[in-house]
Amino acid sequence: MTQDELKTLVGQAALQYVTPDTVVGVGTGSTVDKFIDALAASGMRIAGAVSSSVRSTERMKALGIPVLDASEVESLQVYIDGADEIDRQGHMVKGGGAALTREKIVADLAKTFVCIADESKLVDVLGAFPVPVEVIPMAAAQIARRFRAMGAEPVLRKDCVTDNSCHILDVKGLRITDPAAFEAEVSQWPGVVTVGVFARNKAGVCLLGTAQGVRTMT
Ligand code: 5RP
Repeated sequence: MTQDELKTLVGQAALQYVTPDTVVGVGTGSTVDKFIDALAASGMRIAGAVSSSVRSTERMKALGIPVLDASEVESLQVYIDGADEIDRQGHMVKGGGAALTREKIVADLAKTFVCIADESKLVDVLGAFPVPVEVIPMAAAQIARRFRAMGAEPVLRKDCVTDNSCHILDVKGLRITDPAAFEAEVSQWPGVVTVGVFARNKAGVCLLGTAQGVRTMT
């Protein structure tokens, strides 16, 4: 199976976590696009979706899925999103699509984060994928210096302005053995909007697309 077919498989499989007539949290990316398409094609009636990006909002609206503002809901049963990396404990690196801040906000509203990913995303230790960090533009140079002092290599993402009018540093050369400690430390640096390590909001379930079918990790 191609990577695209694996994404379609897990996008379909995520439907089983959606309860009709409830509001669902929806992430961002090519795998989530498959979920959105499957949801629309299923004909399942939902009360609405809380979206994590302009990209997902536009796709859902085009397919007739009602989109609600995050401030309109107190909690969500599930949040469905992809990942750039996921380890066996459900910690993730996210933000390859620059939507990490809203993704973390919507994930935080949800009781369960259901991660959908093809098997290439499963890793033993996070950090081979450059970790996206959304930053307030005036703080980018200072935050980059802090990462360099850790021995990492931050790169300002070219031509990228996020949905929140901020910038992204992609940080190469990290080996994140304690994702919760890393997230807590970097999150408190002045000017960091969101670090793309999801440990506090880690996945409760991961649907992994493999050549043998969908593998469910909990
Ligand atoms: C966007 C994300 C995506 O979930 C992540 O980049 C995975 O994307 P894809 O499903 O296209 O591989 O975090 O900010």
